[in-house]
Amino acid sequence: MSIPVVTVGEAEEDVVGGLERLHGPVTVVRRCTELTELLAACQSGLARAAVVADGCESLTASLVDRLGAVGVAIIALTDNAEEAARLRGIGVASTLTGVEPAALAGRISEAVAQLTGTPRGAGHGSGVGDTGAALRQLPGEQVDVPPASGAGRIIAVWGPAGSPGRTFIAANIAGELAAEGKSVLLVDADSYGASIAAVLGLLDESAGLAQACRLADQGLLDEDALLKVAIPVTTKLGTFRVLTGITRADRWTELRAAALSLVLERAKAIADVVVVDTGFCLEADEELSFDTMAPRRNAATLRSLEVADTVFAVGAADPVGVPRLVRGLADLESAVPHVSPVVVMNKVRAAAVGRSPERQLRDAWERYGPSSGITAFLPADSSAADAALLGGSLLLESAPESKLRRAIADLVCAPVQRSPRSSVFSSTPRRLLKG
Ligand SMILES: Nc1ncnc2c1ncn2[C@@H]1O[C@H](COP(=O)(O)OP(=O)(O)O)[C@@H](O)[C@H]1O
Ligand SMILES: [Mg+2]
Repeated sequence: MSIPVVTVGEAEEDVVGGLERLHGPVTVVRRCTELTELLAACQSGLARAAVVADGCESLTASLVDRLGAVGVAIIALTDNAEEAARLRGIGVASTLTGVEPAALAGRISEAVAQLTGTPRGAGHGSGVGDTGAALRQLPGEQVDVPPASGAGRIIAVWGPAGSPGRTFIAANIAGELAAEGKSVLLVDADSYGASIAAVLGLLDESAGLAQACRLADQGLLDEDALLKVAIPVTTKLGTFRVLTGITRADRWTELRAAALSLVLERAKAIADVVVVDTGFCLEADEELSFDTMAPRRNAATLRSLEVADTVFAVGAADPVGVPRLVRGLADLESAVPHVSPVVVMNKVRAAAVGRSPERQLRDAWERYGPSSGITAFLPADSSAADAALLGGSLLLESAPESKLRRAIADLVCAPVQRSPRSSVFSSTPRRLLKG
């Protein structure tokens, strides 16, 4: 079957004429004069491929993602090697402007086949407050983050509304992994209430994740660029990097799914473990909008969960938090069906659920009947948590001997005394990990 193609660009006369004369593998169904027209044509379901004969500099990862979502592959024409590399980075095949029509038709068929065979999203892909003994940023050259293996894994920390402790756990997990010698990148992807910078006592206004997303969208996010926007934070036991969140909630439009996929993909190259603090809301707001180009507020959370190797689902252990988590897990299952979340009960205390709180919680859990059992219970420890908050520090500094610290470390680390340098992933129970 002939592939319906739309084209854009001044050079289209030659291209279109050449393709049409082939009378075969591709059919030019519309010639557009600008990219917005091309987009509209693609979104109406007219084409399977788009040839951008001119103006490929305007192609961004978000645009490519939206076209991919409606099943349209893109071929750009450019003679500039740098631009071709940038395009490759955002998932666009390119060819030289003087390409023979038959060769161009071949490239179009290839790109369409590749798009059909690739699941959506899979292709993409300051200053610091001096907080006493707490965390501080090191000058660039002195950064002592261990080198990454190049095959990082993603841990997403999610939980329903009501502040069950996602950020607190994500930050402490990052610190514990860094203390274990891992190369760690902590990412604040909460589009409703970014707070990693505040928790770490950073006076950071740079919104590192938004910067990284912008670069990724433009196809300019290589590993060096990512290292520049991910600020290093050091604790007594190790240094890790942070991509801070958006500084105002209304900047959520800067965290688009396609760009975030690219950021997380690159992140895996610079860190052994990428820890993502997510928002709570899983609603697919895309479905509520007729404009498929509209950014989605929950895209950052949903995309992080989609690409994560491990998802911690955190709930507050009280009569409000438990039913919220149960409902949240049902939402999670329908939003991202392939995820097997690791359920973590946080702020466990007898005062909220009665004597023997762990047993009470397990019994309640069995009655509610979610399929994933509770994997970990983290004790409520307000004095340790508050001391950490006050100092802009992590538990490993403010309450190193606390049960809470140990319980969080046990989520991801080998027992410290036995094997301080052993691998988090080889030593963590298999059921905690996907794949
Ligand atoms: N186990 C715990 N014991 C006591 N306080 C906790 C515990 N875990 C988190 N907190 C506190 O609960 C509050 C909310 O945590 P936070 O991580 O900001 O929630 P979320 O990111 O889910 O909105 C913070 O003040 C944090 O210090
Ligand atoms: Mg939070």
